[in-house]
Amino acid sequence: MVRIENVALHFDDGKTTALNGISATVEEGEFVAIVGPSGCGKSSLLNVIGTLERPTTGEVYFRCQPYSNIADASLFRRQHFGFIFQSFHLIPTLSALDNVVVATIGCPGPAREHTQRARQLLAQLGLRDRIDHFPRTMSGGERQRVAIARALINNPDLILADEPTGSLDSVSTEQVLGVISEIRQQRGISIVVVTHDPEVSGRADRVVSMRDGKIEPGKEYRQ
Ligand SMILES: Nc1ncnc2c1ncn2[C@@H]1O[C@H](COP(=O)(O)OP(=O)(O)OP(=O)(O)O)[C@@H](O)[C@H]1O
Ligand SMILES: [Mg+2]
Repeated sequence: MVRIENVALHFDDGKTTALNGISATVEEGEFVAIVGPSGCGKSSLLNVIGTLERPTTGEVYFRCQPYSNIADASLFRRQHFGFIFQSFHLIPTLSALDNVVVATIGCPGPAREHTQRARQLLAQLGLRDRIDHFPRTMSGGERQRVAIARALINNPDLILADEPTGSLDSVSTEQVLGVISEIRQQRGISIVVVTHDPEVSGRADRVVSMRDGKIEPGKEYRQ
């Protein structure tokens, strides 16, 4: 599904190296966890896969399409990817429902249908009673489930999650992981997750270790 070829990512006119020659693949339907110490380039790699960051050198392919040929990266992202972040990134002045619906702006189809789907997704994620709540009145686990609904509303092929349980207690972590497993079974979506949490990496099909902007050879394992 995703093929990364010899990707390097430098910042500050080359003074900082975030990625230092990465080659990797993600298969259709696969759940991959990326682990490694702080600053080793995990978020950078996720951002490159999600077209949020353009590699300095190298190429990434999504279903054989090279990223350098993508004309409209924001449309491409909306069509293919769902993003989940550690700090949820919800809009504080919008209700749970509107935080999900907002991701459909500019997408084809009538607004009424988008709203209907958002309601269904929130209900499926156990938030039927929280639809009209604002983020500040919700627990961390509830907020993250709203963010998951937002990531799913446009039927993505690939979920990119950066420390999705990093701000959650163990009960909320279990809930969020349960929701993620359910989604995988129902929809066959691929997932790449960056995590420090063994509870999360323990659920992945494959764990990739990074260090100093590289994938550590021989430390990758399937489970
Ligand atoms: N926008 C940026 N400008 C300059 N340097 C950056 C930028 N983004 C990341 N870096 C640097 O690139 C390196 C990799 O950062 P990255 O955020 O990918 O690490 P990480 O593995 O996600 O770390 P953490 O576990 O702390 O989130 C770090 O040295 C970081 O300081
Ligand atoms: Mg990071």
